[in-house]
Amino acid sequence: MDKSLVNRLREDTPGCTHVLHLNNAGAALSPRPVIDATKQHLDKEALMGGYEAALASIEDTESVYKNAAQLINCNPDEIAFVENATRAWDMAFYSFKFKPGDKILTATAEYASNYLAFLQMAKHTGVEIEVIKNDASGQLDLEDLKNKLDAPVKLIAITHVPTQGGLINPAQAVGKLAQAMGIPYLLDTTQSIGQMPIDVEAIGCDFLCATGRKYLRGPRGTGFLYAREKTTLQYEPPFIDLHSAKWISDNDYVLRRDARRFETWEQNIAAKIGLGVALRYALELGLSTIWDRIQHLSSYLRQQLSQMPSIQLQDLGSHHCGIVTFTCREKSPTDIQTALLKQKINVSISLEEYARLDLSKRNISSLVRASVHYYNTIDELDTFCKALERILCKQ
Ligand SMILES: Cc1ncc(COP(=O)(O)O)c(C=O)c1O
Repeated sequence: MDKSLVNRLREDTPGCTHVLHLNNAGAALSPRPVIDATKQHLDKEALMGGYEAALASIEDTESVYKNAAQLINCNPDEIAFVENATRAWDMAFYSFKFKPGDKILTATAEYASNYLAFLQMAKHTGVEIEVIKNDASGQLDLEDLKNKLDAPVKLIAITHVPTQGGLINPAQAVGKLAQAMGIPYLLDTTQSIGQMPIDVEAIGCDFLCATGRKYLRGPRGTGFLYAREKTTLQYEPPFIDLHSAKWISDNDYVLRRDARRFETWEQNIAAKIGLGVALRYALELGLSTIWDRIQHLSSYLRQQLSQMPSIQLQDLGSHHCGIVTFTCREKSPTDIQTALLKQKINVSISLEEYARLDLSKRNISSLVRASVHYYNTIDELDTFCKALERILCKQ
């Protein structure tokens, strides 16, 4: 990505003139077209009426399905718009009918909300949760996964990129094994979508959940679920409404035949339109271009941080993404975050309870997460490192 393009993208991002934003894994700064489209629809609703505005904007809302499908290489009918990645994941997960003795395979990077759902399901149905070990680099160990793929495995559900670090789990290799054994595969791409190319055909997952506000730069309260066409028809959503199903007689209903059976009728149309624009924005830039730039910036940041004696980098895995995490012997992550915020530098912290299987084992109660996006610059990263050094000097 050349300098003039980066400048143009920053000019297109009002937040860039206000903050040094390294909390893209929390929520990225939206570009102007996303902000404008969202606001314009709210105005339309105010002037026309909500239902009438929605009717007049069908082409814009439909673009979510078209653009999401193009982004992950599937059919628009395989996309459901939902309000966040958790709900997308839930709609897929709670569609499974587990029974005692069934097994769910997951990995140590699993996100808290997903694992809580496993625990709830285990409590109610007797399904067993088995955690795939890590290899020496800290990513999911494919050999261990192979050994665990025996008959009763009902679902493989893993997180591609975790909330708490730069790790990238080998989603595609997992998909090959899942397909070879005919085991359904649910992939959480909340942190990887919009950051790197994702191709569901290459990965071979049956369900994938995504959020809008992180690396896709869409509005908050948006997300989507991918449900493979042949999979969709086998799974009944955990709850339905008059949009996902049709009431055909006093005692009967039929479900929609596309992924929209996982949606609800009422939706935030302004945010949905904003997500459609964010998806188009990412597609126009190109996911390979975005990914190259993110890797360039994050390796630079890791390299700078590695030269600070009191900083310990905490990213696992053999390849790293834009999420850079670290701890520091002298200062707590919260103190670092608060001190940076006073200088208009945004980072976030990940707590042990967000990813207990991983962080507890490493004796990490919390860590600092500085997550870069393509609109960040080397100058910003230098400013961030200098600010951090000053904070660490002040004991
Ligand atoms: C890996 C992972 N999965 C799921 C989620 C939940 O996403 P959402 O807040 O959009 O439901 C997050 C949020 O940080 C996450 O990092």
